[in-house]
Amino acid sequence: MNIQWYPGHMTKTRRMMEENISLVDVVIELLDARLPLSSKNPDIDSLARNKKRIIILNKADLADDKKTALWEKYFKEQGFETVQVDSISGKGIKEIMPIARSLMAEKIERLKKRGRIFVPVRAMIVGIPNVGKSTLINKLVGRNMAKTGDKAGVTRGKQWIRIKKDFELLDTPGILWPKFEDEAAGLKLAFTGAVNDDILDSPELACRLIEYLNDLYPSAIKDRYGIEYEENTAAHDVLRLIGEKRGFIRKGGETDSKRTADILIDEFRGAKLGRITLD
Ligand code: G4P
Repeated sequence: MNIQWYPGHMTKTRRMMEENISLVDVVIELLDARLPLSSKNPDIDSLARNKKRIIILNKADLADDKKTALWEKYFKEQGFETVQVDSISGKGIKEIMPIARSLMAEKIERLKKRGRIFVPVRAMIVGIPNVGKSTLINKLVGRNMAKTGDKAGVTRGKQWIRIKKDFELLDTPGILWPKFEDEAAGLKLAFTGAVNDDILDSPELACRLIEYLNDLYPSAIKDRYGIEYEENTAAHDVLRLIGEKRGFIRKGGETDSKRTADILIDEFRGAKLGRITLD
C-alpha cells in the first residue's frame, strides 16, 4: 500500500513557515502521542533553528500511558521541553505557558536590563494536519477561532492573540507536511487519520492495522470484538471474523468487508480498542 501526501505548494508552505517562525520566540511543536516519530517532520529542526522549542505529545488521552512516558523521557533527553497534553479536556495545557516563559527568562532579563519595560513571549504552534493544532489554540485562547484551511499560501494579516498579559500566540498554526520516510510511517499516519481517507482502500488499510495490532497489542482485537483466533491467522480472516461477530453480512451471506473495515478503523481512532501507541 503506497501512501503519499504532497502539498501542492511545498516551497510556498516552507517559505511561509520560515517567515512566521522568524516572528516568534518559541515554537510549540505538536506530535501525535500515538506516533511521536511518524508525526514528526524532521525539517522542523532546520526551520526552527535558533528558536526555543517545546514538544507537545498531543492526544495523550488516546495513547498508551507507559509508552508516552518513555517518549517524554526520550525527547527530554534530547534537550527538548516536553509536555503530555489532551487538548480536548485541556489536561497538561497549563504547563505550556510557564515553560515558554522559563525558556525566555534569560532574554527577558537581558532586555529589561537594557530598559525594556515589557517583554511579551511570542509563540506559534506547528504540526502536521490533524494533529490537533486548532483544538489546542482554541483551548489556549478559551474560545473558538476559525479554522484555517490546510492550504499553503492562505495569506492573511498576521494576528497575535494575547492569551496572558505577557504571552502572545500567532493566530495561524504552521502546517508541516508529514514525512513518509518509510512505508510504515505512512501507514501509521493513515491508521490515525492524518492522511485523507478518500484516497485509501479501507479493507486494505484495516488489514494492515490488524497486523500491527496483533503484533503490538495481541489481545486488543480479541477483547474488543469477543473473538478468538490463532496468532498466525491472516488479517483478512480476522476482518471477516469481526464482521461476522458484528453481523455485517450482505445478501448472499458474505461479510461486508468495507463496513467492517470502516468500523474497525473508526473504533481504533476513538481508542475503543484501548489506548494504543504505534511508534
Ligand atoms: P489540526 O488543526 O492540527 O488539523 O487538528 P484539529 O485541531 O482540527 O484536530 C483534529 C482532530 O483531532 C479533531 O477531531 C480534534 O477534535 C481531535 N483532537 C485534537 N486534539 C485532541 C486530543 O488531545 N485528544 C483527542 N482525543 N482528540 C484530539 P475530529 O474528529 O477530526 O473533529 P471533531 O469532530 O472532533 O471536531
